[in-house]
Amino acid sequence: MAPSVRRGRSGNRAPADEAAAWILAGRAFVRDRLQPVEIAISEDGRILAIGKVLSGAPRHDVGEGVILPSATDLHVHFREPGGPADVETIATGTVQAALGGVALVGEMPNTDPPVADVDALAEKEARVRTRAAVDVLLYAAPSDPRALGRLAVRAGAFKLYLSPTTGIATPPDPAQLGPLLVRLASLGLPVAVHAEDPTRFARDSDPKDPTDWNRARPPSSERAAVERLLELAPPALRLHIAHVTEVASVVRLREAGVSFEATPQHLLLSQRSGTSPRTKVNPPLRSEADRRALWESFVRGEVPCLASDHAPHSTTSKDRPFPLAPSGMPGTETMLPLFLARVRTGELELPRLVAAACDRPARWFGQPHGRIAVGHRAHLLVVDFRVRTRLGARRLHAPCGWTAFEGSEAIFPREHYFHGERIVSDGEFVGRSNGTVVRPEFAPQPR
Ligand code: DOR
Ligand code: ZN
Repeated sequence: MAPSVRRGRSGNRAPADEAAAWILAGRAFVRDRLQPVEIAISEDGRILAIGKVLSGAPRHDVGEGVILPSATDLHVHFREPGGPADVETIATGTVQAALGGVALVGEMPNTDPPVADVDALAEKEARVRTRAAVDVLLYAAPSDPRALGRLAVRAGAFKLYLSPTTGIATPPDPAQLGPLLVRLASLGLPVAVHAEDPTRFARDSDPKDPTDWNRARPPSSERAAVERLLELAPPALRLHIAHVTEVASVVRLREAGVSFEATPQHLLLSQRSGTSPRTKVNPPLRSEADRRALWESFVRGEVPCLASDHAPHSTTSKDRPFPLAPSGMPGTETMLPLFLARVRTGELELPRLVAAACDRPARWFGQPHGRIAVGHRAHLLVVDFRVRTRLGARRLHAPCGWTAFEGSEAIFPREHYFHGERIVSDGEFVGRSNGTVVRPEFAPQPR
């Protein structure tokens, strides 16, 4: 048995005789600021104690690095089963997550077949258990009312699309939306919604670039969908709005106390970022003024969660005439690194980033991590803010082979500890397929 940790003065309390396997020492983000600490980690990968001086187990000092909690990415599409394996799989997607500092992903149900019944869910669970490099929470699609009860005791969350999307052709009948939300509220799981109202989409449009795409699926369709959801959602519904693109939505959702996310693409890219169909995404990139306003709101800490909406497509399918190209872009590997680079330049404060990328998404999924705190899982990163890179698809790990953030500055974690085990070392993946399927362990916390 490993020796128990002896705490120096000012140590945090942990159960008296828990054995520590090892100690991580360095400047760490604890209680909202960076401070020199030592973190005792148990054999099974939990944080046992945090103190100024700990002893009694092997120690790893991170030197000039900074210790941060790992991120949770609430929104990824790993395309398995049914997708082309040369574009993405659970194995390749979770390795990108690990390299990008993400220890838990929320995997979307629009795979083939969609995760709309327990058989499809069980199939995906089995794949995650043998192939995933990080933990995965599985969303189910509430398409079949008869399957909901059985799905709710096994899935991690529900994802509802109000407009047709890759793999899910039929959104709910608008007349049935209210009763569906009431039913979902009774089931207790978090419910994320793709909030674009298709009745507001332009008809007969022939989009040639992201500006046309924004006109075809305008911000007013997001506003209408958000208003409808706020009107119909019962108070007990654990509602989360995916990829919010406008400050108007931020204001409404904050007033209503509803959880939501914004993506790196809607915060960092706009119609000005080029005309390539690679930046075609749903909801569309907005005007530069809208993007800037969303970014400023994020900087003020008004956006609770950052999520990638990692949605890879092959270059052959993307590099077609704009109307034919599918929507979506990869991003789980680059999400945190892009924002760490903004912290380095002083554009964003570290506590805001840790809240939006680590703490609040984990709380929304009901998971004990996202903060460096006793009792939390030891999902930890070591980041050296001096080591910057320029993003280039060739150095990334997405099999689809492209990024919409080519040339942007990024700071990748040097080390990543997942359940206390090192899975990234010197920026290289050294982990295994140790990911598990997780479900909320406590009620989702929107605030
Ligand atoms: O751009 C998008 N791509 N938006 C979605 O809602 C789905 C996603 C995909 O699965 O490709
Ligand atoms: Zn998505």
